[in-house]
Amino acid sequence: MCGIIGYIGKGEAAEVLINGLFRLEYRGYDSAGIALIADGDIFVRKVAGKVKELAQMTSGQLPHSHIGIAHTRWATHGVPNDINAHPHIDCRGRFAIVHNGIIENCRTLKRFLEEKGHKFISDTDSEVIPHLIEEFYNGDLIAAVKKALNQIEGTYGLAIISLANPDRIIAARMGSPLVIGKGREEYIVASDLAAIISYTDQVIYLKDGEIAEIRKDSIRIESRELGLVTPEIEKVTWTLKQIERGGYDHFMLKEIYEQPIILRDTIRGRLNYEEGTARLNGIADYIDDLRDADRIIIFACGTSWHAGLIGEYMIESLAGIPVEVEYASEFRYRKPVLSQGSICIAVSQSGETADTLAALREAKRQGVPVLGICNVVGSTIARETDAGVYIHAGPEIGVASTKAFMAQVMAFALLSLLLGRQKRLSLDEGREIIEAIRKVPDQLSQLLKVLPDGIKAIARKFKDHRNFLYLGRGYNFPVALEGALKLKEISYIHAEGYPAAEMKHGPIALIDKEMPVVVIAIKDAIYDKVISNIEEIRAREGIVIAIGSEGDEQLKKNVDYAIMVPQTLDHLYPLLTILPLQLLAYYIAVFKGLDVDKPRNLAKSVTVE
Ligand code: M6R
Repeated sequence: MCGIIGYIGKGEAAEVLINGLFRLEYRGYDSAGIALIADGDIFVRKVAGKVKELAQMTSGQLPHSHIGIAHTRWATHGVPNDINAHPHIDCRGRFAIVHNGIIENCRTLKRFLEEKGHKFISDTDSEVIPHLIEEFYNGDLIAAVKKALNQIEGTYGLAIISLANPDRIIAARMGSPLVIGKGREEYIVASDLAAIISYTDQVIYLKDGEIAEIRKDSIRIESRELGLVTPEIEKVTWTLKQIERGGYDHFMLKEIYEQPIILRDTIRGRLNYEEGTARLNGIADYIDDLRDADRIIIFACGTSWHAGLIGEYMIESLAGIPVEVEYASEFRYRKPVLSQGSICIAVSQSGETADTLAALREAKRQGVPVLGICNVVGSTIARETDAGVYIHAGPEIGVASTKAFMAQVMAFALLSLLLGRQKRLSLDEGREIIEAIRKVPDQLSQLLKVLPDGIKAIARKFKDHRNFLYLGRGYNFPVALEGALKLKEISYIHAEGYPAAEMKHGPIALIDKEMPVVVIAIKDAIYDKVISNIEEIRAREGIVIAIGSEGDEQLKKNVDYAIMVPQTLDHLYPLLTILPLQLLAYYIAVFKGLDVDKPRNLAKSVTVE
């Protein structure tokens, strides 16, 4: 949520900042702004709308400067308008800040500051920060920032510039990610790597409670708890190519098409055919705990939660270990009771989701180990978990998650194989799973060649429908949920995912000849039951769009539209059945003329509660 960036160095600050904002825009896109120090002044420009609007408005008009900050917003306090856009400044325009996070005690702070004579112009919580700094400033910027931060309850990733110290940026972090890129005679601080990797691959991940004082050729980091700390510089492996659209109309489409390659990366070096098992070195020290656990608790949000649900089904059926899947947002507040025999798994693409992070901390507070299934290397969740599995999906820019889901599901397939082999799967069964896993990337590549035309035709036909129902059973019930979420997110069509058999307990009342029902009806152990559900829909004149298994000619005759996927093992079907649902959501949104990569009200990484 919200992208922040700061630049100091030999280069042209405005150019780096505007470029960076374009890269960070997936974090929020309701308003944008920039502040530069030039000619003894802080020059601020901000506007409601996307970064493009800011770039157009300021084109050729920004002063030369070597230091500045910028922001792309996802509103929490105050509607998206020019005034509420960041950067925010103090009364006399001596300090400018960009903020990602929430100041929970902003009302109290505002009252305190107003009593001292400070004037506020926006409705945001963030505006209290420059005023607090102004209030406490006594010739020492760092001291004023520290005092200001001590007053704040809530979360922040902050970049601050000041007229009194035009040779430095102050960055501070508590609960909202910040990463600092080190170039030659320049530093860039940003909410995430996307804004940095075109300039440098040397980065420092700021930790909670740390404040960095960044000059063009030096950095000083102080931790609230540890005092001065030596910056740990890490090398980034993401490439520029990975964060560019590369000829695709949208990042979402690019990421859908990347899925076969991603899965190869997820499984690379992790399959051991000889022993019919998987190898997950990142969690090697916890395999015994997982195998002997009373309970594995998976927590996550959104799409990652759907992947976790598939993980539950896989681990329970292949390894016989009890698993529960929790919404991280519920888990953290419902006073969960964890036995010492439990072990948790936090699933997150970004590794920064506030609710998942809070659930992780709650589990650790109760003394239970927490493992991670994460995409972003060096993210907070990746660092705070005891051990983890990286899914190697590369940067995911499209707000609607696709390739990360695929890779998360594959990570669970590997984990369930590994645990299954330790518990009850035979060598032959393990090898059979490996053979099927190895086929999946090619099966997806093939599907990507044959599916789009048919799916486009369906999308055109149904793009103006107001409601959709998605049904699936077993492993494909979470796929139905995920398919419905994809449609809701990017096309704003109301869609519900249901276990197919639950339909008759209520949702069947919705079915009429206007209701498209997407049913995943592959040839698995419960195929016949799903066919009965299809009959129930047809009897009420509902429109059935089925995802079936290749060779199922009977299904084709019984439904209005059939999209076929190759056969695989039951628990691997979600890796194939999700693809047509991603494409369907994508093309419906495209045909509705919507902004697929920046759906309204959403942001990629949800770092607020
Ligand atoms: O980064 P995370 O996996 O922790 O994010 C969780 C959800 O916010 C995320 O999956 C969200 O639901 C996506 N927009 C789904 O497409």
